[in-house]
Amino acid sequence: MRFSAGSLALATASAVQAAHHTVTVGKGGLRFDPPTLTAAAGDTITYQFFARNHSVTQSSFNEPCQPLSGGFFSGFVPTESPDVSSRTTFTITVQDATRPIWLYCGQTNGNHCQSGMVQAINAPTTGENTFQAFVEKAKTAPTSKSPADGLPNGGHREILVDVGKNGLTFEPNNIVELPRTRVRFSFNPRNHSVVQSSFDNPCQPIGPGGFSSGHIPVANSPSGVFFDLIIPDTKPLWFYCGQTNGNHCQSGMVGSINAPTSGERTLAAFINKAKAAPPPSTIPAFAPLGGTVTVNGTVLHVFNGNTLPSQVANNNPPATSTAPNNGNNNNNGNNGGAAGPAQTKTSPPASSQTLPQPGQGADDYFANKAGGGTPKHWGWTEKLSDTASDFLQLHLRIEDLIANLLWEAYLKLEKGGAWHGVYPQTIVDTIGAWTAQAVIHTATTSAVLEHYQKPILSSCKWKLPLDTVDSFLSAYNKINLAQIGALIDISGQVATADPWVVPILLTQVGSKSRAAGVVNMMQNHMASISPREVAVPAILAWSYVLNNYVENCPSALTIEGEKEKKWPVLTVPTVKPGEITVKYDGKAGEAAFVAFIGPYGELEYSSVDDKSKIVKVPEGWSGDVFIVVTNKAGVKLDELEDFVIAGPELVWL
Ligand SMILES: *[C@@H]1O[C@H](CO)[C@@H](O)[C@H](O)[C@H]1NC(C)=O
Ligand SMILES: *[C@@H]1O[C@H](CO)[C@@H](O)[C@H](O)[C@H]1NC(C)=O
Ligand SMILES: *[C@@H]1O[C@H](CO)[C@@H](O)[C@H](O)[C@H]1NC(C)=O
Repeated sequence: MRFSAGSLALATASAVQAAHHTVTVGKGGLRFDPPTLTAAAGDTITYQFFARNHSVTQSSFNEPCQPLSGGFFSGFVPTESPDVSSRTTFTITVQDATRPIWLYCGQTNGNHCQSGMVQAINAPTTGENTFQAFVEKAKTAPTSKSPADGLPNGGHREILVDVGKNGLTFEPNNIVELPRTRVRFSFNPRNHSVVQSSFDNPCQPIGPGGFSSGHIPVANSPSGVFFDLIIPDTKPLWFYCGQTNGNHCQSGMVGSINAPTSGERTLAAFINKAKAAPPPSTIPAFAPLGGTVTVNGTVLHVFNGNTLPSQVANNNPPATSTAPNNGNNNNNGNNGGAAGPAQTKTSPPASSQTLPQPGQGADDYFANKAGGGTPKHWGWTEKLSDTASDFLQLHLRIEDLIANLLWEAYLKLEKGGAWHGVYPQTIVDTIGAWTAQAVIHTATTSAVLEHYQKPILSSCKWKLPLDTVDSFLSAYNKINLAQIGALIDISGQVATADPWVVPILLTQVGSKSRAAGVVNMMQNHMASISPREVAVPAILAWSYVLNNYVENCPSALTIEGEKEKKWPVLTVPTVKPGEITVKYDGKAGEAAFVAFIGPYGELEYSSVDDKSKIVKVPEGWSGDVFIVVTNKAGVKLDELEDFVIAGPELVWL
């Protein structure tokens, strides 16, 4: 969910340059400064808090000092200084400039709202609902209220923590914050990390589910490199810097979030424990985990290890894992965009390039060619369900096959290759772009798995049908459509537990569908008449790949606790108007049906003639259609795998 909201915000923000406004809260008295503000849709407003204990809370015009249901709320921000703002800020984004936003401070101790501590954004300057009228109304309003849970809502509350700014320190090291607050660690030279431990075992990672920024070597202060994490609840969290060179943790470079203030598990007790902890400190092998690293606003989702490459940390163009923007501001990752030849101006020749393995990320060569890299906004949640993990492994395997097939074909089609000249260069470039998109898709899926410390299975040895251009194209079409089918199926399977994965998967369907249309044209078919975006149970799609394109895999897939399954091969020796014949290993006399798999999960069944193996094609089916043989008719798509005797296979009707 956060994924789509994030990309949307990015797209809107880049269309028109959004402005950033700053408002002080409680500086020089009970007031917001400025008290009124004009802001455009997409603008952000950051509130800075001063002594003593204020909030920014949205009300309606008619009921000042009372929270508007679902409105903005910063939570209370207690702070000491009247002159220096709190490290905690609250930022909101204006969605609709035509609707005024009315705000107040909800502090009842001193009746701040009734004393005039209110603010308006985009208030009318004439008529009845002016800011002045709102101030007057607030004066006689009943005692202020605040949202009952006390937690920030509608914007983001953030606390800034300096890492290594003045020696081996986190400032503050004793973070007291509300759940939902974003803790933003700002890195200073030279090479620090923020890693979660348990209270009892400082200087060592807490294990699965813990956060880690990875080692962040930076040269400048400020560096523009941040690690952000969201506080999930009120439980204490303990963290340390894992730098072994100088034993930072054992030197007291540790901190806490919402530590008890008394008893045995205080921050002071944790610091003492850390000082006595045996070196060396260790940190998880992959980073970032449980949070997000940004370098001047660009999200780096995975370092291919646990150290931020220093050329990235120190102001060289990111070398791995992020996409150059190419001036294409619609690019919110995942290259839903590029269908045709991509920008290749910075690409080295293909011959000096190798295809990355799953888990190796995608370098600039592929990001440029694909017209975009992996997502910039992930919306990580705390856990990835086992179902999603299993299906992403399956997806990764098929995508790796696609990348390998396209890459080998592309090399043959490029200058110096055996097939050079068979297609016009625009088509060759397009196939290059598809290859790169497949690489980005594998990098994206690998990044998700890595983030959650799930294994990334090594590549299989593939059987690539590269005898002729036609055999390549036909295989690509089949695998591509099987993968589209699997992606739609997987999206449904993960939608409940891991909804943020869905847009990542469905964006890939977009680029694959366009490729399918182009392939149909290259095969002298009409491009767009066939129902292409058709769900195929992922486990059947994988069986299809196993049967046709796998030499061997280093390990088998597990899907929902069961080992991968391979159904018997189905072939279709003849296709005539209105009928096909099928061939498969089946028991003689067993009732059999062909299920035609259509869009929207629709299936139509036709019986297989026991002797001739002729099957009538139901009315209205045309184009590329996946079929399977079953021993029962009328079965629904989600139970199909229980009744399959052979297949699937793709037929052109
Ligand atoms: C800040 O004010 C709120 C609302 O009155 C109150 O619940 C909270 O305890 C106060 N915090 C501090 C530290 O005074
Ligand atoms: C940062 O520290 C880590 C851990 O000691 C080390 O592996 C890495 O090489 C360091 N990087 C730089 C650029 O110093
Ligand atoms: C971030 O941007 C600032 C200002 O443009 C620059 O000085 C700094 O080097 C950048 N940092 C990185 C890591 O790119």
